[in-house]
Amino acid sequence: MCWCDRWTIMHLFLLLILQATAALGQIDPAHCRYALGMEDNRIKDEAITASSQWYETTGPQYGRFNSEEGDGAWCPKGQLEPSDTQYLQVDLGRLTFLTVVGTQGRYARNSGNEYARAYRLNYSRDGVLWKSWRNRLGNAVIEGNKNAYQSVINDIHPPIITRYIRVIPVTKLSTTVCMRVELYGCLWDEGLISYSAPEGQLMQQPGHPIANFSDSTYDGVNERRLSGGLGQLTDGVIGLDNFLQARQYHVWRGYDYLGWRNDSLGTQGHVEMEFVFDRQRNFTSMKVHSNNMFSQGVKIFSSVSCWFKPRLIAAWEPEPVTFMTVLDDRNPSARYVTVPLNRRTAKSLRCRFYFADVWMMFSEVSFQSGNTHKHTHTFISQQKIYLLILFSSEPPDDGNTPILIGCLVTIILLLIIIIFLILWCQCVSCGGGYAEPDVTQCTPHQCFHSNAPHYAETDIVRLQGVTGSNMYAVPALTVDSLTRKDISAAEFPRQQLIFREKLGEGQFGEVHLCEAEGLPEFLGEGSPLPDRDCLSVLVAVKQLRADATNQARNDFLKEIKIMSRLNDPNIIRLLCVCVTSDPLCMVTEYMENGDLNMFLSQREIETSSLSKHVLLFFPLPPSSLSDLLHMSVQIASGMKYLASLNFVHRDLATRNCLLDRRLTIKIADFGMSRNLYSSDYYRIQGRAVLPIRWMAWESILLGKFTTASDVWAFGVTLWEIFTLCKEQPYSLLSDEQVIENTGEFFRNQGRQIFLYAPPLCPPSLFELMMRCWRRDIPDRPTFEGLYQALRPHVNQ
Ligand SMILES: *[C@@H]1O[C@H](CO)[C@@H](O)[C@H](O)[C@H]1NC(C)=O
Ligand SMILES: *[C@@H]1O[C@H](CO)[C@@H](O)[C@H](O)[C@H]1NC(C)=O
Ligand SMILES: *[C@@H]1O[C@H](CO)[C@@H](O)[C@H](O)[C@H]1NC(C)=O
Ligand SMILES: *[C@@H]1O[C@H](CO)[C@@H](O)[C@H](O)[C@H]1NC(C)=O
Repeated sequence: MCWCDRWTIMHLFLLLILQATAALGQIDPAHCRYALGMEDNRIKDEAITASSQWYETTGPQYGRFNSEEGDGAWCPKGQLEPSDTQYLQVDLGRLTFLTVVGTQGRYARNSGNEYARAYRLNYSRDGVLWKSWRNRLGNAVIEGNKNAYQSVINDIHPPIITRYIRVIPVTKLSTTVCMRVELYGCLWDEGLISYSAPEGQLMQQPGHPIANFSDSTYDGVNERRLSGGLGQLTDGVIGLDNFLQARQYHVWRGYDYLGWRNDSLGTQGHVEMEFVFDRQRNFTSMKVHSNNMFSQGVKIFSSVSCWFKPRLIAAWEPEPVTFMTVLDDRNPSARYVTVPLNRRTAKSLRCRFYFADVWMMFSEVSFQSGNTHKHTHTFISQQKIYLLILFSSEPPDDGNTPILIGCLVTIILLLIIIIFLILWCQCVSCGGGYAEPDVTQCTPHQCFHSNAPHYAETDIVRLQGVTGSNMYAVPALTVDSLTRKDISAAEFPRQQLIFREKLGEGQFGEVHLCEAEGLPEFLGEGSPLPDRDCLSVLVAVKQLRADATNQARNDFLKEIKIMSRLNDPNIIRLLCVCVTSDPLCMVTEYMENGDLNMFLSQREIETSSLSKHVLLFFPLPPSSLSDLLHMSVQIASGMKYLASLNFVHRDLATRNCLLDRRLTIKIADFGMSRNLYSSDYYRIQGRAVLPIRWMAWESILLGKFTTASDVWAFGVTLWEIFTLCKEQPYSLLSDEQVIENTGEFFRNQGRQIFLYAPPLCPPSLFELMMRCWRRDIPDRPTFEGLYQALRPHVNQ
């Protein structure tokens, strides 16, 4: 009775999932997206002011989102010149964590046509000192509207903690602008208005790029000591276990952390920080998110002492609260350390954190006090953001209002039906939630006939390439057509695998680097191993956890079946297995040079000042355009082979292409293995994810995965290669906007946004990429065609 195709429901579920990510206990920017009350008048007219207004009827109070009052928008006086600064100012009444800004132009029931193509933001916590907002790459200008009716929603990264905000239209030409605005976010309950700390430091390890642990988004004064502002410690982004990796794309090593080295701070052995709050509070605790990668000399603090000051102008109370942490030398995970503050009353705090090792690194600090308020905004206002994104593409037309209402009612009914279906499927047939994918209650027999994917249930992944904390469900691989005799890999004696190092860890188990004694001999003639003369070789061994569910075991065996059938120089090779006893193991080639994404992104581009066309890569061996083409051909060749077997990969991307010692590319990651390098993400007990930026529109909207959708992903992979993986595809779009863009691909009215042509990429090649992203499947090239088109370039 398992007729409901789980995957279909999952992608219908996508929108709902967008709003339901795991709560972190602290402020979570992915959740904090409530409309703050421009549209529904919770922000009063008096709180909205402006630098000027053209007429009474275009005053600041008419700058409300979706409002047609007055002349339909706020318009500053006169033509806006590029050098002018005009602004619409909103007093939010209290400190607010602002995450999203929405803008519209003046539509006025089809009689207006003024809008702002771009804008900047200024903000002020006290109404006196104004600061300019910049994104994580230092840009201040945000793209605005393209017409007068359509709303444009922009995520603000990093978020802003403020009470007053100014929206400042920006123009390149002299023009008239008008704006309507909505602001989204939530209350900044914590009330922290500034922290001060020593500036973060640099880590230089021989042979590695410098890691910079400064506070890159700090908005106060930075003169060796940070003071008077907020920054990375309050941006809602917590650092990863490995402090060298960052959650943001296109940032430097160490970005997420503020870190200090013990010996550079004199003889103190501690870091002193001061925290100032909006008013007096009774503090219950402080949570400090801290790195603990002890193998690299980083640990949480060994102890902390905090002093309290009841008023701004008062002496520090002599008695501190001191807390000793329990140091942990076994688990290298970054974690929140909770420091009890015994309900002491204060307006400001001074805390000394004592080093436990050479380095101490924090990514987030938050405070809990006894008298905070619960969120008062309704869920409805949050919902609006997503509905807006979906239905804002056509101009509103009075004549069509009944139709519009009809559509909305239909959509709401549909949503109710979907929710009902989901609940029904969870209760009646295959139980097991989307939130807890490893709990599967249906028997293998049931699910076998459902033709539903299984891997999603065993696999919790957060793929690289998906920003923010939005999680999506992973589509899975179905290989029901394979039978047991398809396993052709030989059983290798387990005791001849000698453990060397752990490469990764996941829900399914672990991946080890092992030495396989006598493997070349064992495989005999026709062995795919490069060094036949060695007695033992290095291999990667994936081992299923001993307590894995039956479902996971079946999936593991299926993956073995698939892989043992594949035999191509550009596909990762299964060498042998250990399946006669537990734990189940599969042994594959070890790829010394890691994945292509990491490999390319470590190459710097230097544009010679003499000739913009001469591109050099360093410090790694110089590579050239023909190297990049050679990589592309190899991937096309491997995919051509998969396509000839009617095998759909579903997750082709540079992160899933591995490089061996000789830089031969092999496509990997069939299903549950994912890759070794995303192992950190398995620990997130949330939802699995979809690689939406690589997916064809029909895969996202219809759940349809075919060789043609692999071709689409191949186009994106080519694009990655020719941008040297320096940028995420559609890096300027949020995940929600990527999904919105997918709808444009489907509608095909010329409004879809394509990836831009990488500067390194010859025009003919970009044309090839564009063909991979054609809307209609027959218009896309085949892998055979792609291979034939790419191959001739390599020899030139
Ligand atoms: C915006 O803030 C900057 C300081 O960062 C200030 O110089 C500028 O005058 C402000 N502009 C407005 C319109 O508030
Ligand atoms: C470290 O990053 C900060 C910005 O957060 C920058 O001002 C500083 O120059 C960087 N230091 C080095 C050596 O790159
Ligand atoms: C930190 O530095 C101080 C002063 O140099 C020293 O006394 C202390 O032992 C150091 N702590 C650690 C954990 O290295
Ligand atoms: C803090 O707690 C004290 C005693 O419990 C209480 O009298 C005081 O009003 C509280 N202060 C605030 C700001 O809530």
